[in-house]
Amino acid sequence: MESEHAHRKDEHLALAEAEYRKMQPTSSLNQVRLIHKALPETSVNQVNLASDNTEFPWPFPFYIEAMTGGSEKSSQINGQLAEVAKETGLAMAVGSQSIALKDFEAIPSFEIARKKNPNGFLIANLGAGHTAYEAQRVINMIDANALEIHINAAQEIVMAEGDRNFHWHESLGEIIATSPVPVIIKEVGFGMDLHTIQTLEALGAKYINVGGRSGTNFARIEDRRNHTNYKEHAHAYLYDWGQTTAESLLEAQTAQQHIFATGGIQSPLDVVKAQVLGAENIGVAGYFLHILLNQGADSLVDEIQLWQKHLPKLYTLLGAKTRSDLQKAPFVVDAELANYAQQRHLKLNNFQNF
Ligand SMILES: Cc1cc2nc3c(=O)[nH]c(=O)nc-3n(C[C@H](O)[C@H](O)[C@H](O)COP(=O)(O)O)c2cc1C
Repeated sequence: MESEHAHRKDEHLALAEAEYRKMQPTSSLNQVRLIHKALPETSVNQVNLASDNTEFPWPFPFYIEAMTGGSEKSSQINGQLAEVAKETGLAMAVGSQSIALKDFEAIPSFEIARKKNPNGFLIANLGAGHTAYEAQRVINMIDANALEIHINAAQEIVMAEGDRNFHWHESLGEIIATSPVPVIIKEVGFGMDLHTIQTLEALGAKYINVGGRSGTNFARIEDRRNHTNYKEHAHAYLYDWGQTTAESLLEAQTAQQHIFATGGIQSPLDVVKAQVLGAENIGVAGYFLHILLNQGADSLVDEIQLWQKHLPKLYTLLGAKTRSDLQKAPFVVDAELANYAQQRHLKLNNFQNF
């Protein structure tokens, strides 16, 4: 008999997929347009997608974001995702390992990711509020190359059994200071503002995933799980709470840290747009899960390989050969996003670059 926590993990998988089917998310990056370079003066085979960051030496700018672990079903999915990651050379994050800190039976559902991909780049995952010792344990559990700490106050608030206390500064600072691997602080889909990013910087964070709205929506997912506690959809007014991925990336324009992004990424063009807006690496969860559950692991490998082939073409249309060239690519944003930036007094890099 699986624990309540393991059951929650299965509900997340089922509801994420059900919500995805019902209303396929629209990427907030549709509000951003890249400026076509009609005379690129470069060629596709000159493009180098690899990162020169020695802590994240990834050959591609996107990765499989944290989803699951803790139950039998999620063990199977972690195994499949790890095989896909191995086949495609992508990095992969496992879902929150907090369940495995309390229930040792849940450990193999995370370990499987390392077993299936012994030499891959694996990211451990834990919620904010855990200790540095617990962070060390989840890193060891999968011999992780990096650690994600997710911050998810809005998800917890909607969740009937969720936390109500959010004093995270001290433990975040401790984890960042003591972790033997690089730490990414990550929102789960409600985005970040510049002040949060600056606060994380003061706590020592070097890597921040702004994790914005416009993809998998945990306000909706948790509210659908609420029916035995509250009326289902009681928090409907919170379904568009938070900053979108595009807004969060604009918030981060002047940040000094390495910025990652996730939330609603569904195409190689979304990846490139996020890079142009300053993201170093881009995580994809719901869209890949949807392909895995509906078409199987081979189709997910095909889709990822397609993205990997298409990215150099898109770089070329922008006249870019490397990741750093992309950061100089000009872009414009639609009226709604421009309005957001203006009201927030955000300085848009490249906004007037032509
Ligand atoms: C089924 C499911 C479970 C998730 N569980 C976790 C988790 O345990 N830890 C975490 O940091 N993020 C978790 N996420 C959030 C994703 O990593 C990602 O930040 C979010 O879904 C936005 O990306 P997307 O729009 O591509 O799905 C989960 C996402 C899904 C779809």
